[in-house]
Amino acid sequence: MNVRRPKIIITYGSFDVLHRGHINLLRRARALGDKLYVGLSSDPFNHAKGKLSVFPYRDRKLILENLKFVDRVFKESSWSQKARDIKKYQADTFVIGDDWRGKFDELKKLCRVVYLSRTGGISTTKIKRRIAALHRI
Ligand code: CTP
Repeated sequence: MNVRRPKIIITYGSFDVLHRGHINLLRRARALGDKLYVGLSSDPFNHAKGKLSVFPYRDRKLILENLKFVDRVFKESSWSQKARDIKKYQADTFVIGDDWRGKFDELKKLCRVVYLSRTGGISTTKIKRRIAALHRI
């Protein structure tokens, strides 16, 4: 019997204060294959990127792991680990929002690279600004 290996999709991000843009991205990424693996930025890595997350890594991981279209969450601690992860998990497709278009073309040597269109009008940064503004009222 010939058993087909599941098609692994891999994506990365901070996924802080989960919103509909994240949900759309994750759902559409998962639909490209059989399993969705998410490299979730650690708190120190977020800090290095100039982001201070509202929810700590542990909470962001718990939330993602409980979404029906996420199969595995692992830690992203550096920019350079993507190639290693793709080989380790034998990922078929790397997916990321098109705010990153062209930035990860190097990975095309290892797997398919797909830039998905971002959901307009929403981001974690916008939500944080809105909460801060409401707080001032
Ligand atoms: N994303 C998306 N649509 C949005 C926001 C994010 O498709 N409206 C995608 C990003 O392109 C990325 C993933 O979701 O592939 C994780 O993005 P992340 O940076 O964690 O979310 P943002 O809301 O963009 O956060 P921030 O404002 O802190 O940059």
